[in-house]
Amino acid sequence: MKNELRGRMTKDGIRIYEPGDFAGMHAAGSLAARILDQIADHVFVGQTTATIDSEIERLVNEAGATSATIGYKGYQHASCISVNHVVCHGIPGTKLLKDGDILNIDVTVIVDGWYGDSSRMYVAGKLSRKAERLIQVTHDSLMLGIEQVKPGNTFGDIGNAIQSYVEQHRMSVVRDFCGHGLGRVFHAPPNVLHYGRPGTGAVLEEGMFFTIEPMVNLGRPETKTLSDDWTAVTRDKSLSAQFEHSVGVTADGVDIFTLSPGGKFHPTYG
Ligand code: MF3
Ligand code: CO
Ligand code: CO
Repeated sequence: MKNELRGRMTKDGIRIYEPGDFAGMHAAGSLAARILDQIADHVFVGQTTATIDSEIERLVNEAGATSATIGYKGYQHASCISVNHVVCHGIPGTKLLKDGDILNIDVTVIVDGWYGDSSRMYVAGKLSRKAERLIQVTHDSLMLGIEQVKPGNTFGDIGNAIQSYVEQHRMSVVRDFCGHGLGRVFHAPPNVLHYGRPGTGAVLEEGMFFTIEPMVNLGRPETKTLSDDWTAVTRDKSLSAQFEHSVGVTADGVDIFTLSPGGKFHPTYG
């Protein structure tokens, strides 16, 4: 039987992949993670996000992989680079990074038909205390969400773990964007919300593949999309951060496909 026809679908329309499919996700996820490791040296004051994106495109090609974002709904770049109050889907451009800028770099690659999607935060120059706090809370909220991933838990358990942690720290979770199923496609059911109530939503089953990618704002959660139809910014201009991993549900927990080979997922490399 053809590969894409194997496996089954839950009543919520979520594809259940097979044990042998984890290897494909590891190949794609680890390439995305390696590229995010390698790009760290290209982030500095005076650099442009267009140059960072060109380097990412070069690294994707060098690996013999395909960028999932080039040509996706008309998007033309190998990454999204979201600086300061940009929440997500920032378009690489020629503006120079300045001291203290924080940026999310989001890369999705296709390796042998499997999608690897991950993003992290970087800093140009010196990190301010408030940006450091935002980045730490966002990172930790993702990891707390991932801790909820095991068969029998629900997507609401993931969202609740993220939301309650973020709100304890007087920050807010963006509602306008969510994580997503992925595998042999880029965006598939379910919508992985980064907020919610325990025990609600679809039940997690072994073989589900999806992203968790919380966006956290220092101010209010509302966003707006600029006239370029991509760039999403905080309405109140407050700083925003995001981290994203691609994960799979195993028999007793979680497999993270996009772990950093160099231990560089967190910008302070802790
Ligand atoms: N990688 C993004 C995500 O996490 C999607 C980017 S789509 C693009 O889902 F077209 F904006 F690149
Ligand atoms: Co994603
Ligand atoms: Co992404």
